[in-house]
Amino acid sequence: MGLGPLWKLRRPAAGPEAAAASPEPAATPVVAQASAAPVEDSGTADRAGAIAAMDWPELEENIRACRACGLCRERKQAVPGVGDRRADWLFVGEGPGAEEDQRGEPFVGQAGKLLDAMLAAIELKRGENVYIANTVKCRPPNNRTPEPEETAACWPFLERQIDLLRPRLIVALGRPAAQTLLQTEVKIGAARGRLFAYRGTPVIVTYHPAYLLRNLTDKAKAWEDLLFARRTMADQ
Ligand code: URA
Repeated sequence: MGLGPLWKLRRPAAGPEAAAASPEPAATPVVAQASAAPVEDSGTADRAGAIAAMDWPELEENIRACRACGLCRERKQAVPGVGDRRADWLFVGEGPGAEEDQRGEPFVGQAGKLLDAMLAAIELKRGENVYIANTVKCRPPNNRTPEPEETAACWPFLERQIDLLRPRLIVALGRPAAQTLLQTEVKIGAARGRLFAYRGTPVIVTYHPAYLLRNLTDKAKAWEDLLFARRTMADQ
């Protein structure tokens, strides 16, 4: 896979964390309203309220049956998330790709292999103290970036996953995940290395594995971000 030694565990570089603990206002995501829904069930407050009261089985069932945005039309299946429901670590990606849509599990394609290698680099393993979810649970056609109304319609599901999990740290993989969690414009290059929060839970932003597959030189930065995440977890 050409990861080379880059993802091998090694000692963190000495020196202070670059702007590591910049105080950020706790992001209070707004349950945005889905726009004129082409499907049956737009993002109303009632819907968000109902999702906020669901347990895991109900939540997954509702994700699988969801028709709140147009992504339901072309999916093979929705992809709720995978992993340890008592995990300290939550990794949030963008949305399922073709293989995830086929198999019903997040990050099982090439980007997923890289994510697994990234996890291994900080001694984590899919399913063990780690939960993996996506910003949108259904595959955007041709793997395009999810539209804001799609992200908004899916937000109550991610919000409920976070409430049920109560992770100690969230890693946002790429811009859509970061923007959804922090409810603000994010540029990964500017946001990485800083500590954000979602309702009191630390959030660290890094590059999406699919981006890293195309931009190998940024892998070193992602490696730094993972070490920062590991230190942040250890410091809690
Ligand atoms: N990219 C994502 O953001 N999520 C997946 O599940 C797969 C690829």
